[in-house]
Amino acid sequence: MPVCWLNGSFVAEQDAHVSIFDRGLLFGDGVYEVAAVMNGRLLDADRHLVRLARSLAAIGIPNTQPAAEWLGVMQQLATDNGINEGLVYLQVTRGVAERDFPFPVNATPTMFAYARPKLLEHDPNANGVRLLTVPDMRWTRCDIKSTSMLAQVLAKQSARAAGAFEAMMHEDGLVTEGGSSNLWIVNDGVLQTRPLSSDILAGITRDVVLELAHAAGVPVRERAFTVAQAKGARECLMSSATSFLLPVTKIDHDLVGDGEPGPVAQRLRAAYLERARALTR
Ligand code: PDD
Repeated sequence: MPVCWLNGSFVAEQDAHVSIFDRGLLFGDGVYEVAAVMNGRLLDADRHLVRLARSLAAIGIPNTQPAAEWLGVMQQLATDNGINEGLVYLQVTRGVAERDFPFPVNATPTMFAYARPKLLEHDPNANGVRLLTVPDMRWTRCDIKSTSMLAQVLAKQSARAAGAFEAMMHEDGLVTEGGSSNLWIVNDGVLQTRPLSSDILAGITRDVVLELAHAAGVPVRERAFTVAQAKGARECLMSSATSFLLPVTKIDHDLVGDGEPGPVAQRLRAAYLERARALTR
């Protein structure tokens, strides 16, 4: 029976309950993180917890649980649920209070986490995925990893309904990011991705890919690109903790390059996996 963690205790998932007055439920008033598990061990969870602290600070939720304790909880969830390859999800909401929009006084944050198996190293999508272009309908603080995600729900539902794997969101003619991933293109061997700002999430995988590209001598340009540039690129890639790095071989009905995973995507995915294996050995 799967075990989760809720407000300090490990409990069977079926016995974990939160109040109908939780502000996460009422307002989407919370933040979250998703970290990968490989070889039964957490990958880059420390970096995810740094971003969690940043998200909490950005919306004024007290950060009551030290990173070391979160790491213990997350690893125990992976271990106790027998997760070899998968993910750990965690969420913190502002807590339970009478429904009123401004912050409640003295509410205790609700915290929970759970683990799930998922193919990462052996992801069949490593053969290439298709993206569907959709307008980015989100707010102006996309750097906060908020649980208020109706725009992404609608974007990713449009993608799924069209038989695509992920959405490519765009605003003012420029690609922002995927529904739950960062996006990249490659031309003449140069890797390009949108620079960090409040328009996108600062992906942990994005950071690691940048480090790996530098180490591998792949030139990087942090500059926004258009949908047309993505469709006309030699290669396109997506990155996230739950997909690592995947080649994008089709956007809408257009093949990217020759419609096969490109050399830079394959090289960087291999480097990503090698690093992940080394860190989780
Ligand atoms: N999403 N951009 C958005 C909007 C995201 O939701 C995510 C991650 C990313 C990639 O960030 P990272 O590399 O740190 O996973 C970029 C997670 C996986 C999710 O919502 O399930």
